[in-house]
Amino acid sequence: MRDLDSIMTAAPVIPVLVIDRVEDAVPIAEALVAGGLPVLEVTLRTPAALDAIRAMKSVEGAIVGAGTVLTPELFDAAVEAGSEFIVSPGITETLGRAAAAAHVPLLPGVSSAGDIMRALELGFTRLKFFPAMTSGGIPALKSLSSVFGNVRFCPTGGITLDNAPDWLALPSVACVGGTWLVQNGASDAAAITARAAQAAALRAPA
Ligand code: 3PG
Repeated sequence: MRDLDSIMTAAPVIPVLVIDRVEDAVPIAEALVAGGLPVLEVTLRTPAALDAIRAMKSVEGAIVGAGTVLTPELFDAAVEAGSEFIVSPGITETLGRAAAAAHVPLLPGVSSAGDIMRALELGFTRLKFFPAMTSGGIPALKSLSSVFGNVRFCPTGGITLDNAPDWLALPSVACVGGTWLVQNGASDAAAITARAAQAAALRAPA
C-alpha cells in the first residue's frame, strides 16, 4: 500500500477528473501520465466513475484514486474498484473511522480549524484544503498552518496553473489538485498532455 506522503509528493499536481464516458478513461489517464502527472483522482460524481477507475488501473505508471467519497459505502465501492487512495471533500466521524480501519489511505477535506482538529482526533494529518480559494485562499491556509505545524495539505478548489505556484511555495503544501487539466473528455489528448507537462514542471517545495 502506498502512503499519502508518497502519493502527495509524486507530482506537484493531482488532476481531479470528472469522467462521463468510460471509453475516455484510459486515453485521459495515458495523456496525463505522458505529461508527467501519475496521480489521478476520479471523482465519484458520474455513473462511469467506478468503471473508469477499473479501466485506468491498466495504464502503466498511473496511481488511481477516487474523489468525492462521501460515505463508508462509497469508500468500500471505491476500494473494491481498485482505488489506491481515497479523497473526500469533508470529514465525518463515520467516514474517518471506516477509513482508519481500511488498508487504503484517505485524504479528507477540511476548511477550518475545527475541521482540522476533528481530522487530527481521527488520526489524519494529510488533508485536502477545500474549497481552497473560497475558504480564504493562501492567507487562510497560512494561518491554519501556523497552528497545525504537523499537517500537510493538498489545496483544491479554484486552483489554476497561474495560482498553483503560490500555493506550492507554502511549506505546508505538498501538492495541489484541480480540474483544469481535463476539460473536454479525451477529445483533446494532446492538449491534456501539454497541460500536464506544464503542471508537472511546477515545483513543490522540498
Ligand atoms: C474538487 O473536486 O476537488 C474540486 O471541485 C476541484 O475544483 P476546481 O474545479 O476548482 O479545480
